[in-house]
Amino acid sequence: MSTYQEVAPFLEGVGLLKEVAQHAPRLEGVPTGVEGLDALFFITEWQDGKPVKRSLGGIPRYSVMQVTGVSDTGKSLLVEQFAVEQARRGTSVVFVTLESPAPFVAVGLKQRAQAMGVSFGDVESHIVLVDGATYSVLRTDVPTLLSTLAHAIRTYHAEAVVIDSITGLYESREMMARDIVRSVFNFLKKWRQTGLLVSQKRSGHDALTAEAAGGYAVGHILDGSLVLAKQTVLTASQARQFGVPIGETVRLFRIDGCRLAGHDSRTHVLEITEEGLVRIGPPLQEIVG
Ligand SMILES: Nc1ncnc2c1ncn2[C@@H]1O[C@H](COP(=O)(O)OP(=O)(O)OP(=O)(O)O)[C@@H](O)[C@H]1O
Ligand SMILES: [Mg+2]
Repeated sequence: MSTYQEVAPFLEGVGLLKEVAQHAPRLEGVPTGVEGLDALFFITEWQDGKPVKRSLGGIPRYSVMQVTGVSDTGKSLLVEQFAVEQARRGTSVVFVTLESPAPFVAVGLKQRAQAMGVSFGDVESHIVLVDGATYSVLRTDVPTLLSTLAHAIRTYHAEAVVIDSITGLYESREMMARDIVRSVFNFLKKWRQTGLLVSQKRSGHDALTAEAAGGYAVGHILDGSLVLAKQTVLTASQARQFGVPIGETVRLFRIDGCRLAGHDSRTHVLEITEEGLVRIGPPLQEIVG
């Protein structure tokens, strides 16, 4: 005898593949504006019965990715570059700031645009700032945040959303991280947005994994993780390998999972240039050993 009460089925949740497939998104890349990153995603196509690897040329469209790392690894620079690149291409992007108040983010975006050779005129009319750093209701009340985001996406015809950082949504209530990240993820999927969600790592977390504040769950809910790390060079052999003096910081990057496309799984050198741009360098295996 079943212990479950008989209830009506939820028919909206059931669909034959033939019907569901009509709404399936096309697999294509969204260029990120980060040198060396776009080439790391690929799909496999079949030509004359043989598999052929084709570069996607960006992160998969409609993917919602985590950008994680400890402080000072270049997460904000990376998502700012992404926003500027979308604007340069004439695509509107909503930038939700939960750490620096919007006018401070504007300074960063202006610097990124300058370094990327993009006119600020193009950028300022395609990036929509949502200031949850100044207005705490956007940080503490998820329904208000999502309805504000819906308004911004609809009004400005946005195709991408950046949140810096989602950790700001559960700073003082980490046991809620799963629910909050799930709501944001579902929302971005429903609105067919490509999303980059920054999340903070603690220094105790494994540096090059998807693990972030809020637990492993955060990375699992999202489509994949871009992991940024830094390491202090402490030995002479490391100093030789990386070509930097002992005591210097080296930065590393890897993609820890991507559900929608194939991806390079190697650990790469990450560089922050003097102009303040993030750049993905060669894989470690090419410079070490
Ligand atoms: N305009 C710039 N020119 C050169 N270097 C810069 C510039 N802006 C930032 N940086 C360097 O890049 C580093 C990484 O910056 P970023 O703000 O992206 O880190 P983050 O990972 O977002 O850190 P947090 O978790 O604290 O927000 C900074 O600490 C700084 O040293
Ligand atoms: Mg930051």
